[in-house]
Amino acid sequence: LLVPESRRVGTAREIAAACRSLDELQAALAAFDGCALKETAKQLCFADGNPEARVMLIGEAPGAEEDRQGKPFVGPSGQLLDRMLDQIGLDRSRVWITNVIYWRPPGNRPPTTGEIAVCLPFLERQIELLKPACILFVGGIAAKALLQRSEGVTKLRGRPFTYRTADGGQIPCLVTFHPAYLLRQPLNKRYVWRDLLQLRARLDDMGVACA
Ligand code: URA
Repeated sequence: LLVPESRRVGTAREIAAACRSLDELQAALAAFDGCALKETAKQLCFADGNPEARVMLIGEAPGAEEDRQGKPFVGPSGQLLDRMLDQIGLDRSRVWITNVIYWRPPGNRPPTTGEIAVCLPFLERQIELLKPACILFVGGIAAKALLQRSEGVTKLRGRPFTYRTADGGQIPCLVTFHPAYLLRQPLNKRYVWRDLLQLRARLDDMGVACA
């Protein structure tokens, strides 16, 4: 970690680019020492769901329960997320869920720009390997990191965006509020309901069935 950030980001990009499958990417992350959060986290928290899924959900960073189980969205936010998905006929057998950050930030503090920068090449490669037909950004951190927008989540949600992969792919995306925010501000669930209906309409167009 005495290595400067730009070098660590470059190394992350080279390592991620060499991965030919999601399993290889997970193994490469487990061996990667370029993110300081690894030192305080209990374990790597990579992804959950179906690697054949056409819908990808991207959150922010693991919390305490995710750190214990090594799986994204298994704590209180995850339980709310599962209920949200259920409302539009989705469950973990039909989606792929991951985070921008792969190790729990101490005390659940927000990830720094440096931590996001060093984890991002792995997320970009994950998207290329999964090739989802649609991405739902769960919260502002994920949307800002990948769409390179400066607006907050309130401005980004409810609008269609396209994520462009380095290999030329174009993936339609939507942005919604993070369930941790909804747990504090439950009235905003009504906006998420609208976002979920938009997602369901997209999935219907793509022929993705309900569970
Ligand atoms: N919040 C997130 O953004 N991701 C998780 O995995 C858990 C909580």
